[in-house]
Amino acid sequence: MEQTKVAAQPTAQPLGIVKNLYEDSKRFITLSQRRKSMLLPLNQILEGDCIDILQTFPEKSIDLIFADPPYNLQLQNELHRPNMTKVDAVDDPWDKFASLQAYDQFTRQWLEACKRVLKPTGTIWVIGTYHNIFRVGAILQDLGFWILNDVVWIKTNPMPNFRGVRFTNAHETLIWASTGKSAKYTFNHQAMKALNEGKQMRSDWWLLSSASGAERVKDEKGDKAHSTQKPEALLYRVILSSSNPGDVVLDPFFGSGTTGVVAKRLHRHWIGIEKEKKYIEIAQRRIDAVQAAPFDPATFNVKSKAKTAPKVAFSALVESGYLQAGQKLFFGKDQTKVATIKPDGRIRTADGFEGSIHQAGSHLMNDAPCNGWEHWYVQMDNGIVSLSEVREKFRLEKGLYEERSS
Ligand SMILES: C[S@@+](CC[C@H](N)C(=O)[O-])C[C@H]1O[C@@H](n2cnc3c(N)ncnc32)[C@H](O)[C@@H]1O
Repeated sequence: MEQTKVAAQPTAQPLGIVKNLYEDSKRFITLSQRRKSMLLPLNQILEGDCIDILQTFPEKSIDLIFADPPYNLQLQNELHRPNMTKVDAVDDPWDKFASLQAYDQFTRQWLEACKRVLKPTGTIWVIGTYHNIFRVGAILQDLGFWILNDVVWIKTNPMPNFRGVRFTNAHETLIWASTGKSAKYTFNHQAMKALNEGKQMRSDWWLLSSASGAERVKDEKGDKAHSTQKPEALLYRVILSSSNPGDVVLDPFFGSGTTGVVAKRLHRHWIGIEKEKKYIEIAQRRIDAVQAAPFDPATFNVKSKAKTAPKVAFSALVESGYLQAGQKLFFGKDQTKVATIKPDGRIRTADGFEGSIHQAGSHLMNDAPCNGWEHWYVQMDNGIVSLSEVREKFRLEKGLYEERSS
């Protein structure tokens, strides 16, 4: 159905300095999107404490949050290399907390504030190291978030452990979580597969450590302008996998603005919150320098084909003889969990549960969301195939794609 399009207007300015109502604000968004995002300071950096600023946002208004909070590294002394040169460690005042309890309290407060503003269909990514990520993970679960993955960013050029008393610390962990166990959320599975040369993307990401080369922002003395600037490639995977063009991506610990840079390149709206003016200036300069290619939905939309392909009801496959009532389905290829197709298009699992392919799959996965098309398999003449393959055959043979484009 055609949706009314309106030009997005500069939005309310709840708190902090207002910057960067850049040309992106003229981009077209749908009327319903605009209503939801009216009070959001889109494409701006807000100066201040994220816990306070997030209180001013409408609830359930954000599609995706990427948070790179203080690590609480608890560094006591300066670190030196064997040749006695000083290691450029993260010893900034923003990373200091009086105790682990103080850190936990801070973490709980900002995560609660994030949960309030996240749409039920939204997801949050939090990145951290062994110093903080376990604490963050526990608090996420306490607050009712549902952990979808922990992704390991393996650094291909980590800093050695100079004193040789531990293993080289060569990774950071990203926790990706939805708002609850049964929440629906965006995952651009096909796009991630394509990005990974046709193979399903795994949770171990081998990428360069920290931002380096031309993307690393330096100050006038040639030193790093921000001690923990993240690589754009990392944010690229986060944003491409779990949001779509026009979505609102929030970063409550904006730092040098890496999230904004990548969100702008991918035609997402972004909002950054940052305490320190000097970082805001760096971030703003970086974002202003991004020349995103003009928005073209056909280019920038990476939703998987399954989502844009003509809808087919499971029962249509039964009615038209592609599948038979009484035929066995296997949950996964290992054939240990089975269900039987009923004449009305529901299926019955071995323990007597009856429902749609999605409900029955969810039943077998302790109520976790389940796309039955991908999880159920059936024995055909050419071997075991997924229901989504049977559905695709149906679409092609019945000419559903042609009907749609005519
Ligand atoms: C780990 S850095 C984020 C780096 C960022 N991801 C990047 O690529 O540049 C954390 C940032 O959060 C900021 N910060 C710390 N506490 C904050 C708070 N309560 N509210 C807003 N910003 C905060 C710090 O000033 C710092 O720039």
